[in-house]
Amino acid sequence: MPMQTGLRTPAPGAIARARELAEPALRAAVATLHPLPRRMAAFSFGWCEADGTPGDSPGGKGVRQAFALLGAEAAGAPVGAAVQAAVAVELVHTFSLVHDDIMDGDERRRHRDAAWKAFGTGPAVLTGDALFALAVQTVAGAGGGHAGRAVAHLAESLGELVRGQADDLLFENRPWAGPEAVGLPEYEAMAARKTGALLGCALSLGPVLAGAPAPQADALMEAGRRLGVAFQAVDDLLGIWGDPYTTGKPVHSDLLRRKKTLPVLAAVARGGGATGRELTRLLGSDVPPDAAAAQHAAALVEAAGGRDFALAEAHRHAAAAQECLRGAGLAEDAAGELAALSAYLLERRL
Ligand code: IPE
Ligand code: IPE
Ligand code: MG
Ligand code: MG
Repeated sequence: MPMQTGLRTPAPGAIARARELAEPALRAAVATLHPLPRRMAAFSFGWCEADGTPGDSPGGKGVRQAFALLGAEAAGAPVGAAVQAAVAVELVHTFSLVHDDIMDGDERRRHRDAAWKAFGTGPAVLTGDALFALAVQTVAGAGGGHAGRAVAHLAESLGELVRGQADDLLFENRPWAGPEAVGLPEYEAMAARKTGALLGCALSLGPVLAGAPAPQADALMEAGRRLGVAFQAVDDLLGIWGDPYTTGKPVHSDLLRRKKTLPVLAAVARGGGATGRELTRLLGSDVPPDAAAAQHAAALVEAAGGRDFALAEAHRHAAAAQECLRGAGLAEDAAGELAALSAYLLERRL
């Protein structure tokens, strides 16, 4: 199956609609921070340059706020709950990226320097903390009588994300072959946590804030976990075959760091033969790969079927997510928009 990263359809309207609704509240929340994390947060959102002068960098795609809006609409939650949820999940997301780039040693994010690269590691850690605290404050301050349950839900989701990030870090030290090698089910459990937990939280936080029945919130959470595995598989594919001009990140950084991403794990696990052996030898070598070796590794991964496998897995998990949503008693229009947004994310190139 050829990889389809070309965007054949325009971005679903929910992305722009969510941005329009949530951005004023997001900017107002960030404006309450201490000047140092305030500027760094604004830089990370693309609203200013590193020196604080106003700028208009593309920032993030706003996927989580769009899911928050559609999850709330699908469950019949009021627009206020949708906005609070959207703001909270975008804050947590940006916090997780600011810290993730430190953990991954990645110097570029959203077409500009990563926060730690532009401002230093200490200030970047602090900015992540500030964004996290602001997210909790946003949910705790939401009216409606269900804020306590919503804060607990956000905290549980974040705990899941942290577990996923911990697994991802530990995978780095595991071998590529033998009984200690990372299996594909382990990878998928990790992705469901590090990426799926926050997508699930995005879909379910508005409904929880509005007092939705637990089975409905649970179905939305589970759908988000499955969508997270699909989204992460596509992110892994873009990390190897994406165009740095559109992704805003350097080419092959995961391969250069020999990260255990889905296409590579699948190629090693399923490759067999000379291609699989050569890939395992290259990845397990004492000498870190240079750009040419990373390029060669990408070709081996493709030849061993890792690229096709990861794309097929993305589609399988996205279909499972739709299955979770089907029985959740959701409003038809919003459920349809959710399906369109999920399909769009499988085709994304950035
Ligand atoms: C990146 O998420 C981190 C992952 C969980 C894969 P996005 O690709 O949604 O990042 P932005 O917000 O658009 O920059
Ligand atoms: C990011 O995972 C997940 C979180 C930040 C929780 P990755 O490290 O795979 O994502 P990118 O590729 O840096 O965006
Ligand atoms: Mg990373
Ligand atoms: Mg990471």
